[in-house]
Amino acid sequence: MKTLLTRSTVAAARIIRRGGTVAFPTETVYGLGADVFDRRAVEKIFRAKGRPADNPLIVHVGSREQIGSLTGEVSETAQKFIRRFFPGPLTLVLPRADRVPPVATAGLETVGIRMPGHRLALEFLQKCRTPVAAPSANLSGRPSPTTWEAVFEDLDGRIDCILQGEIAEIGLESTVLDCTGEIPLVLRAGAVTLEQLREIVPETAVYLLKKDERPKSPGLRHRHYSPRARVILAGDQVTETVENAAFIGLRRPTADFRLVRVCDSFDEYARSLFDFFRRCDRRGIAAIYCETVPEEGIGAALMDRLRRAAED
Ligand code: TXA
Ligand code: MG
Repeated sequence: MKTLLTRSTVAAARIIRRGGTVAFPTETVYGLGADVFDRRAVEKIFRAKGRPADNPLIVHVGSREQIGSLTGEVSETAQKFIRRFFPGPLTLVLPRADRVPPVATAGLETVGIRMPGHRLALEFLQKCRTPVAAPSANLSGRPSPTTWEAVFEDLDGRIDCILQGEIAEIGLESTVLDCTGEIPLVLRAGAVTLEQLREIVPETAVYLLKKDERPKSPGLRHRHYSPRARVILAGDQVTETVENAAFIGLRRPTADFRLVRVCDSFDEYARSLFDFFRRCDRRGIAAIYCETVPEEGIGAALMDRLRRAAED
Protein backbone atom coordinates (compact mmCIF):
# COMPACT_ATOMS: atom_id res chain seq x y z
CA MET A 1 0.00 0.00 0.00
CA LYS A 2 1.25 3.47 -0.88
CA THR A 3 1.15 5.91 2.06
CA LEU A 4 0.22 9.46 1.05
CA LEU A 5 2.16 12.21 2.81
CA THR A 6 0.17 15.44 2.92
CA ARG A 7 -0.28 18.73 4.76
CA SER A 8 -3.87 19.04 3.48
CA THR A 9 -6.61 18.35 6.03
CA VAL A 10 -9.08 18.17 3.12
CA ALA A 11 -7.17 15.33 1.45
CA ALA A 12 -6.69 13.50 4.76
CA ALA A 13 -10.37 13.83 5.77
CA ARG A 14 -11.47 12.52 2.37
CA ILE A 15 -9.50 9.31 3.03
CA ILE A 16 -11.26 8.87 6.39
CA ARG A 17 -14.67 9.30 4.74
CA ARG A 18 -13.75 6.60 2.21
CA GLY A 19 -12.93 4.09 4.95
CA GLY A 20 -9.14 4.57 5.01
CA THR A 21 -6.56 5.07 7.77
CA VAL A 22 -4.87 8.43 8.47
CA ALA A 23 -2.15 9.30 10.98
CA PHE A 24 -2.61 12.85 12.29
CA PRO A 25 -0.88 15.15 14.78
CA THR A 26 -2.33 16.07 18.18
CA GLU A 27 -0.76 18.02 21.06
CA THR A 28 0.03 14.75 22.93
CA VAL A 29 1.27 12.27 20.29
CA TYR A 30 0.32 11.38 16.71
CA GLY A 31 -2.80 9.21 16.38
CA LEU A 32 -3.76 6.62 13.72
CA GLY A 33 -7.38 7.28 12.83
CA ALA A 34 -10.36 5.69 11.08
CA ASP A 35 -14.11 6.41 11.02
CA VAL A 36 -15.34 4.90 14.28
CA PHE A 37 -18.69 3.89 12.75
CA ASP A 38 -17.00 1.92 9.95
CA ARG A 39 -16.12 -1.44 11.49
CA ARG A 40 -13.86 -2.51 8.63
CA ALA A 41 -11.93 0.76 8.74
CA VAL A 42 -11.39 0.32 12.49
CA GLU A 43 -10.11 -3.23 11.93
CA LYS A 44 -7.44 -1.77 9.61
CA ILE A 45 -5.99 0.16 12.56
CA PHE A 46 -5.48 -3.03 14.58
CA ARG A 47 -3.84 -4.74 11.59
CA ALA A 48 -1.52 -1.83 10.74
CA LYS A 49 -0.24 -1.51 14.32
CA GLY A 50 -0.23 -5.20 15.19
CA ARG A 51 -2.38 -4.14 18.15
CA PRO A 52 -3.97 -6.79 20.38
CA ALA A 53 -7.75 -6.87 19.78
CA ASP A 54 -8.41 -6.57 23.53
CA ASN A 55 -6.99 -3.04 23.74
CA PRO A 56 -9.72 -0.38 23.19
CA LEU A 57 -9.23 2.74 21.07
CA ILE A 58 -9.82 6.37 22.04
CA VAL A 59 -12.45 8.11 19.90
CA HIS A 60 -11.59 11.67 18.84
CA VAL A 61 -14.16 14.39 18.22
CA GLY A 62 -13.83 17.74 16.45
CA SER A 63 -16.63 19.36 18.44
CA ARG A 64 -18.44 18.81 21.73
CA GLU A 65 -21.67 18.17 19.78
CA GLN A 66 -20.24 14.89 18.46
CA ILE A 67 -19.98 13.45 21.97
CA GLY A 68 -23.71 12.66 21.96
CA SER A 69 -23.29 10.16 19.10
CA LEU A 70 -20.83 8.09 21.17
CA THR A 71 -22.38 7.92 24.61
CA GLY A 72 -25.90 8.03 26.02
CA GLU A 73 -26.26 10.25 29.00
CA VAL A 74 -23.33 12.48 29.97
CA SER A 75 -23.34 12.70 33.78
CA GLU A 76 -23.09 16.02 35.67
CA THR A 77 -19.54 15.11 36.67
CA ALA A 78 -18.47 14.26 33.12
CA GLN A 79 -19.97 17.53 31.92
CA LYS A 80 -17.85 19.46 34.38
CA PHE A 81 -14.66 17.81 33.10
CA ILE A 82 -15.74 18.45 29.51
CA ARG A 83 -16.39 22.13 30.19
CA ARG A 84 -13.01 22.56 31.82
CA PHE A 85 -10.68 20.33 29.77
CA PHE A 86 -12.16 19.86 26.27
CA PRO A 87 -10.41 20.55 23.96
CA GLY A 88 -7.23 19.28 25.60
CA PRO A 89 -5.07 16.32 26.64
CA LEU A 90 -7.83 14.49 28.56
CA THR A 91 -9.69 11.29 27.59
CA LEU A 92 -12.97 10.58 29.38
CA VAL A 93 -14.22 6.99 29.68
CA LEU A 94 -18.04 7.05 29.48
CA PRO A 95 -20.80 4.49 28.80
CA ARG A 96 -20.75 3.38 25.14
CA ALA A 97 -23.70 4.12 22.85
CA ASP A 98 -25.00 1.11 20.87
CA ARG A 99 -23.90 2.73 17.61
CA VAL A 100 -20.22 2.46 18.52
CA PRO A 101 -18.99 -0.88 17.13
CA PRO A 102 -17.57 -3.22 19.83
CA VAL A 103 -14.39 -3.69 17.79
CA ALA A 104 -13.43 -0.06 18.61
CA THR A 105 -13.89 -0.53 22.36
CA ALA A 106 -12.52 -4.08 22.49
CA GLY A 107 -15.96 -5.31 23.51
CA LEU A 108 -16.21 -2.99 26.54
CA GLU A 109 -19.48 -1.28 27.43
CA THR A 110 -17.54 1.98 27.79
CA VAL A 111 -15.84 4.30 25.31
CA GLY A 112 -12.87 6.66 25.69
CA ILE A 113 -13.56 10.12 24.20
CA ARG A 114 -11.13 12.96 23.58
CA MET A 115 -11.25 16.34 21.82
CA PRO A 116 -7.65 17.33 21.04
CA GLY A 117 -6.56 20.91 21.64
CA HIS A 118 -4.50 21.16 18.47
CA ARG A 119 -5.38 23.42 15.57
CA LEU A 120 -4.57 21.02 12.73
CA ALA A 121 -6.15 18.06 14.54
CA LEU A 122 -9.41 19.95 15.10
CA GLU A 123 -9.50 21.18 11.51
CA PHE A 124 -8.96 17.62 10.28
CA LEU A 125 -11.54 16.10 12.66
CA GLN A 126 -14.17 18.68 11.72
CA LYS A 127 -13.66 17.90 8.05
CA CYS A 128 -14.05 14.16 8.71
CA ARG A 129 -17.64 14.90 9.89
CA THR A 130 -17.52 11.71 11.97
CA PRO A 131 -15.77 10.79 15.23
CA VAL A 132 -12.39 9.19 14.58
CA ALA A 133 -11.11 6.18 16.53
CA ALA A 134 -7.36 6.55 17.00
CA PRO A 135 -4.68 4.91 19.13
CA SER A 136 -1.14 6.27 19.05
CA ALA A 137 0.33 5.89 15.54
CA ASN A 138 3.20 3.53 16.38
CA LEU A 139 3.71 -0.19 15.88
CA SER A 140 2.34 -1.89 18.97
CA GLY A 141 4.93 -1.93 21.76
CA ARG A 142 7.13 0.84 20.33
CA PRO A 143 7.37 4.37 21.76
CA SER A 144 4.49 6.64 20.73
CA PRO A 145 5.34 8.93 17.80
CA THR A 146 5.83 12.63 18.47
CA THR A 147 6.77 13.54 14.86
CA TRP A 148 5.40 12.52 11.49
CA GLU A 149 8.81 11.06 10.68
CA ALA A 150 8.42 8.64 13.60
CA VAL A 151 5.01 7.58 12.21
CA PHE A 152 6.66 7.08 8.81
CA GLU A 153 9.41 4.95 10.37
CA ASP A 154 6.85 2.53 11.87
CA LEU A 155 3.90 2.60 9.45
CA ASP A 156 4.99 3.60 5.94
CA GLY A 157 3.29 1.17 3.53
CA ARG A 158 0.87 -0.03 6.23
CA ILE A 159 -1.55 2.95 6.33
CA ASP A 160 -3.23 5.16 3.73
CA CYS A 161 -2.04 8.60 4.75
CA ILE A 162 0.07 10.71 7.12
CA LEU A 163 -1.14 14.25 7.81
CA GLN A 164 2.15 16.04 8.38
CA GLY A 165 2.31 18.48 11.27
CA GLU A 166 4.91 19.77 13.70
CA ILE A 167 6.41 17.92 16.68
CA ALA A 168 3.76 17.13 19.32
CA GLU A 169 3.98 19.83 21.94
CA ILE A 170 3.35 17.70 25.04
CA GLY A 171 4.96 14.47 23.83
CA LEU A 172 3.19 12.09 26.29
CA GLU A 173 -0.26 10.53 25.81
CA SER A 174 -3.44 12.03 27.30
CA THR A 175 -4.66 11.55 30.85
CA VAL A 176 -7.33 8.81 30.83
CA LEU A 177 -10.13 9.39 33.35
CA ASP A 178 -12.86 6.82 34.01
CA CYS A 179 -16.14 8.60 34.77
CA THR A 180 -18.40 5.54 34.82
CA GLY A 181 -18.17 4.77 38.55
CA GLU A 182 -19.03 6.61 41.75
CA ILE A 183 -15.78 8.53 41.82
CA PRO A 184 -13.65 9.53 38.83
CA LEU A 185 -10.56 7.33 38.46
CA VAL A 186 -7.33 8.20 36.67
CA LEU A 187 -6.41 5.15 34.56
CA ARG A 188 -3.37 6.76 32.93
CA ALA A 189 -1.39 9.83 34.04
CA GLY A 190 -0.94 12.64 31.51
CA ALA A 191 -0.56 16.38 31.09
CA VAL A 192 -3.84 17.05 32.92
CA THR A 193 -2.71 16.38 36.48
CA LEU A 194 -4.51 14.79 39.42
CA GLU A 195 -4.39 18.17 41.21
CA GLN A 196 -6.17 19.85 38.28
CA LEU A 197 -8.84 17.13 38.16
CA ARG A 198 -9.38 17.45 41.91
CA GLU A 199 -10.13 21.14 41.47
CA ILE A 200 -13.24 19.97 39.60
CA VAL A 201 -14.06 16.83 41.64
CA PRO A 202 -12.05 16.60 44.90
CA GLU A 203 -12.72 12.83 45.29
CA THR A 204 -10.91 11.98 42.02
CA ALA A 205 -8.50 9.10 42.70
CA VAL A 206 -5.79 7.14 40.92
CA TYR A 207 -6.78 3.64 39.85
CA LEU A 208 -4.50 0.99 41.29
CA LEU A 209 -4.63 -2.46 39.75
CA LYS A 210 -5.32 -5.03 42.45
CA LYS A 211 -3.77 -8.46 42.04
CA ASP A 212 -5.96 -10.93 40.12
CA GLU A 213 -8.43 -8.23 39.12
CA ARG A 214 -9.34 -7.61 35.51
CA PRO A 215 -7.78 -4.25 34.70
CA LYS A 216 -10.19 -1.43 33.90
CA SER A 217 -7.90 -0.28 31.15
CA PRO A 218 -6.72 -3.27 29.14
CA GLY A 219 -3.89 -1.19 27.71
CA LEU A 220 -2.31 -1.05 31.15
CA ARG A 221 -1.54 -4.76 30.89
CA HIS A 222 0.42 -4.54 27.68
CA ARG A 223 4.08 -3.70 27.46
CA HIS A 224 4.38 -0.09 26.40
CA TYR A 225 6.56 2.78 25.38
CA SER A 226 9.65 0.64 25.11
CA PRO A 227 12.72 1.23 23.05
CA ARG A 228 14.77 -1.83 22.16
CA ALA A 229 17.50 -0.56 24.48
CA ARG A 230 17.31 -1.30 28.19
CA VAL A 231 15.92 1.67 30.15
CA ILE A 232 17.56 2.42 33.51
CA LEU A 233 16.14 4.92 35.99
CA ALA A 234 18.91 7.11 37.36
CA GLY A 235 18.08 8.86 40.62
CA ASP A 236 21.63 10.03 41.26
CA GLN A 237 24.38 11.36 39.06
CA VAL A 238 25.77 8.63 36.82
CA THR A 239 29.50 8.80 37.38
CA GLU A 240 30.94 5.59 35.93
CA THR A 241 31.29 5.32 32.21
CA VAL A 242 28.99 2.72 30.72
CA GLU A 243 29.64 1.25 27.33
CA ASN A 244 27.28 1.97 24.44
CA ALA A 245 24.87 3.89 26.65
CA ALA A 246 22.86 7.10 26.37
CA PHE A 247 21.55 9.62 28.89
CA ILE A 248 18.50 11.88 29.02
CA GLY A 249 17.62 14.21 31.87
CA LEU A 250 17.97 17.71 33.28
CA ARG A 251 21.51 17.66 34.71
CA ARG A 252 24.51 17.12 32.48
CA PRO A 253 26.08 13.79 33.52
CA THR A 254 29.75 13.60 34.46
CA ALA A 255 30.21 10.15 32.90
CA ASP A 256 30.82 9.68 29.18
CA PHE A 257 27.85 8.61 27.06
CA ARG A 258 27.54 7.98 23.34
CA LEU A 259 24.43 10.12 23.22
CA VAL A 260 23.38 12.79 25.72
CA ARG A 261 20.21 14.87 25.83
CA VAL A 262 20.09 17.59 28.49
CA CYS A 263 16.67 19.24 28.75
CA ASP A 264 15.95 22.75 30.07
CA SER A 265 12.66 21.90 31.76
CA PHE A 266 10.29 19.06 32.68
CA ASP A 267 8.15 20.03 29.70
CA GLU A 268 11.08 19.70 27.33
CA TYR A 269 12.04 16.37 28.92
CA ALA A 270 8.48 15.05 28.36
CA ARG A 271 8.42 16.33 24.79
CA SER A 272 11.84 14.80 23.95
CA LEU A 273 11.61 11.40 25.64
CA PHE A 274 9.97 9.18 23.01
CA ASP A 275 11.92 10.79 20.17
CA PHE A 276 15.14 10.19 22.10
CA PHE A 277 14.21 6.52 22.63
CA ARG A 278 13.79 6.15 18.88
CA ARG A 279 17.07 7.92 18.15
CA CYS A 280 18.87 5.54 20.53
CA ASP A 281 17.34 2.52 18.77
CA ARG A 282 18.48 3.78 15.37
CA ARG A 283 22.02 4.09 16.75
CA GLY A 284 21.99 0.62 18.30
CA ILE A 285 22.38 1.95 21.86
CA ALA A 286 22.20 -0.85 24.47
CA ALA A 287 21.16 1.09 27.60
CA ILE A 288 19.44 4.43 28.21
CA TYR A 289 19.89 6.15 31.58
CA CYS A 290 16.91 8.38 32.37
CA GLU A 291 17.05 10.89 35.19
CA THR A 292 14.11 10.53 37.59
CA VAL A 293 11.98 13.61 38.35
CA PRO A 294 9.61 14.67 41.16
CA GLU A 295 6.05 13.49 40.54
CA GLU A 296 4.51 16.92 40.26
CA GLY A 297 2.79 18.42 37.22
CA ILE A 298 3.92 16.67 34.05
CA GLY A 299 6.51 14.87 36.23
CA ALA A 300 3.89 12.30 37.30
CA ALA A 301 3.18 11.29 33.70
CA LEU A 302 6.87 11.34 32.84
CA MET A 303 7.72 9.00 35.74
CA ASP A 304 4.82 6.71 34.78
CA ARG A 305 6.21 6.33 31.24
CA LEU A 306 9.80 5.92 32.49
CA ARG A 307 8.78 3.17 34.92
CA ARG A 308 6.84 1.29 32.26
CA ALA A 309 9.73 1.57 29.82
CA ALA A 310 12.10 0.25 32.48
CA GLU A 311 9.98 -2.86 33.23
CA ASP A 312 11.26 -6.05 31.64
O1 TXA B 1 -2.94 11.20 23.77
C1 TXA B 1 -3.53 10.16 23.48
O2 TXA B 1 -4.34 9.61 24.25
C2 TXA B 1 -3.23 9.53 22.12
C3 TXA B 1 -3.74 10.49 21.04
C4 TXA B 1 -3.62 9.93 19.67
O3 TXA B 1 -5.06 10.86 21.34
N1 TXA B 1 -3.84 8.24 22.00
C5 TXA B 1 -3.39 7.15 22.67
O4 TXA B 1 -4.09 6.00 22.39
O5 TXA B 1 -2.47 7.19 23.45
P1 TXA B 1 -3.60 4.54 22.84
O6 TXA B 1 -4.50 3.59 22.19
O7 TXA B 1 -2.17 4.39 22.55
O8 TXA B 1 -3.90 4.51 24.37
C6 TXA B 1 -5.26 4.49 24.80
C7 TXA B 1 -5.34 4.05 26.23
C8 TXA B 1 -5.08 2.56 26.37
O9 TXA B 1 -4.33 2.34 27.55
C9 TXA B 1 -6.49 1.99 26.46
O10 TXA B 1 -6.52 0.77 27.18
C10 TXA B 1 -7.23 3.11 27.18
O11 TXA B 1 -6.67 4.29 26.68
N2 TXA B 1 -8.67 3.08 26.86
C11 TXA B 1 -9.28 3.37 25.70
N3 TXA B 1 -10.62 3.17 25.78
C12 TXA B 1 -10.86 2.74 27.04
C13 TXA B 1 -12.03 2.34 27.75
N4 TXA B 1 -13.23 2.32 27.18
N5 TXA B 1 -11.90 1.94 29.04
C14 TXA B 1 -10.69 1.94 29.63
N6 TXA B 1 -9.54 2.30 29.02
C15 TXA B 1 -9.61 2.68 27.74
MG1 MG C 1 -0.35 3.66 22.40
